[in-house]
Amino acid sequence: MKEVLVNLAYLISASLFIFGLKNLSHPRTAVRGNMIGALGMLVAVLVTLLDRRIVDITTIIVGLTTGAVVGTVLALRVQMTAMPQLVAVFNGLGGGASALVAGTALYESLSGGGEPGFWFTASVVASGIIGAVTFFGSGVAFGKLQGIIKERPIRYSGEQVVKAVVFGLALFAGLLLIKNPDRTALYWVMILFSSVLGVLLTIAIGGADMPVVIALLNSYSGLAASATGFVLENSALIISGSLVGASGMILTNLMCKAMNRSLLNVLFGGFGEVVSTEEDIYEGKVKATSPEEVALILETARRVVIVPGYGMAVAQAQYAVRDLYNLLESRGVEVEFGIHPVAGRMPGHMNVLLAEVDIPYDKMKELEEINPTFEQTDVVIVIGANDVVNPLANTDPKSPIAGMPVLEVWKAKTVVVIKRSLSPGFAGVPNPLFAMDNTLMLFMDAKKAVQEIVNALKESS
Ligand code: TAP
Repeated sequence: MKEVLVNLAYLISASLFIFGLKNLSHPRTAVRGNMIGALGMLVAVLVTLLDRRIVDITTIIVGLTTGAVVGTVLALRVQMTAMPQLVAVFNGLGGGASALVAGTALYESLSGGGEPGFWFTASVVASGIIGAVTFFGSGVAFGKLQGIIKERPIRYSGEQVVKAVVFGLALFAGLLLIKNPDRTALYWVMILFSSVLGVLLTIAIGGADMPVVIALLNSYSGLAASATGFVLENSALIISGSLVGASGMILTNLMCKAMNRSLLNVLFGGFGEVVSTEEDIYEGKVKATSPEEVALILETARRVVIVPGYGMAVAQAQYAVRDLYNLLESRGVEVEFGIHPVAGRMPGHMNVLLAEVDIPYDKMKELEEINPTFEQTDVVIVIGANDVVNPLANTDPKSPIAGMPVLEVWKAKTVVVIKRSLSPGFAGVPNPLFAMDNTLMLFMDAKKAVQEIVNALKESS
């Protein structure tokens, strides 16, 4: 009877996860989705605590309290622009925890004098390899996003062979462990090689491909948890791990599509060198403007497209952008927002910021929808975006962003780019858009710039 109740509770929690994920697919319902998912996790944790004697309750309370305090402080303090780093940390800790739990379960089963079975040890091996790759891979991803580790990919000749050999050694140690579960040193040898593999896989990736890596590591952390679920024979962990693994894979796929790259290409393709230098591109061709001049241009515009990017998030300019949107709309100007799928630093970053200031969802247009309209657009205002409006993606096959679909803003009559300098964006490439004949550069902080444009527009009316 108890078994049935426990499994029923796990089923409820799994259903809550699925409803939560469904709600997370739209900004309007995302907060509710998060709450539903958290409720599912609460049910799963409580039932597991009531059902099982894993370690004594004091240890669990100490762990729960420490985790809750650290998690709450991190979540409250983190800047939205640093969200990918936080996600990288969470993924890494998930993977590391899975590897440690699986290892501990192996020791525990041996200490009972029993002979661990094939599937048990195979699950321990899967959890250990994927968990260690995730932990160390996420550590490197965190370092890169935080600017602690060199952001450009580290490539060397024969690297694919080196990675294949390291993976082979980890797998070999794992297979030996499956055959001889009592030789626990093999577990740590396997973990060592898997950790090196995690580092090697992630140092080779950089630039605009980092979003794909974060999504992939997220998926790995789910797969590691799912394998640990098999080790512990815990169906809630198997289901929730599989859900994270599957949704992470779907996100990885979407990110690859957004970058127009295959996953194999992201993992093993590598980049060429940046060939276009800033001097070639900008020398004598960049035209600076002022908020007053931009206001004058907007006076006669009938259709305006606003393209937000990472800089809007940094400057927290979304409120000023809302004011500009309202003012232009009240004057009969048609205003839309062009949203690139990897603009900012996390999936849906721009949608979340614009939704926060009540920009109607139907005004936020995706890349495929907005690109054909630029030719009929009088003014495009690019606010703190760079890589996602870089024409080099279409023209320079050696660029780190080569092949990535971009917002073709240069097709509009006039393009105003608001940023503080000519410095490059995340991918580290110069941007010929800034030197085009129809582009005006407004070198200011995004929030201040948009506020001043709004003031100038109000004064002129
Ligand atoms: P970026 O290419 O990173 O460019 C942002 C620009 O904002 C910079 O060139 C910077 O120029 C400007 N900026 C920074 N602070 C500003 C401020 N206070 N006021 C005005 N401008 C400011 O951004 P993007 O176009 O949004 O592209 C996103 C990039 O991040 C892509 O390469 C993408 O692959 C990568 N990425 C995305 C994600 C996801 S999932 N979205 C995750 C990780 C990485 P100044 O310094 O001159 O002002």
